[in-house]
Amino acid sequence: MLSKSMESALNEQLVLEGYASFLYLSMASWCDQEGLEGCAKFMYRQSEEETQHMMRIFNYINEMDGHALAPAIAQPPHTFESVKVLFDKVYAHEQKVTAAINELVAQSYDEKDHATFNFLQWYVEEQREEEALMRTILDRIKLIGDGPQSLYYIDMELDKINKIEEKEAAASGE
Ligand code: FEO
Repeated sequence: MLSKSMESALNEQLVLEGYASFLYLSMASWCDQEGLEGCAKFMYRQSEEETQHMMRIFNYINEMDGHALAPAIAQPPHTFESVKVLFDKVYAHEQKVTAAINELVAQSYDEKDHATFNFLQWYVEEQREEEALMRTILDRIKLIGDGPQSLYYIDMELDKINKIEEKEAAASGE
């Protein structure tokens, strides 16, 4: 059973994960419009993953006899200054999510809520991986440059990352 304050904190986390899903969907659409197919594919996949992150928490709350609330999602931006700005925003949002997960872990520890503490460890690992991936992408953009002549090469890099991620997902059965 969840404490009322843990239930409400988990419901707040749903909003962040849901917003990430819609933000990334909006980014995927912008990439599509810009002809950046590799980037679009990457962001569509990230968006789907965020929906799964949201639903994992949603189901957990109800499984623990709480009441999961379908979140109200704010309208994300539709346009982005550049690919570099877009990935800067992804990285910033992931850092915000990591900070929120760390707060939840601290709360579950303080409340001696071992079930929630255990449940959250998956997110701790996921955030470590997501932040590392976004840093890798930003490092590559820094190396390639993000002027108009570089977009083709950035998109090819993202496509390489897509292939690696697809292979890993197939190997883990996701
Ligand atoms: Fe579920 Fe990438 O935060």
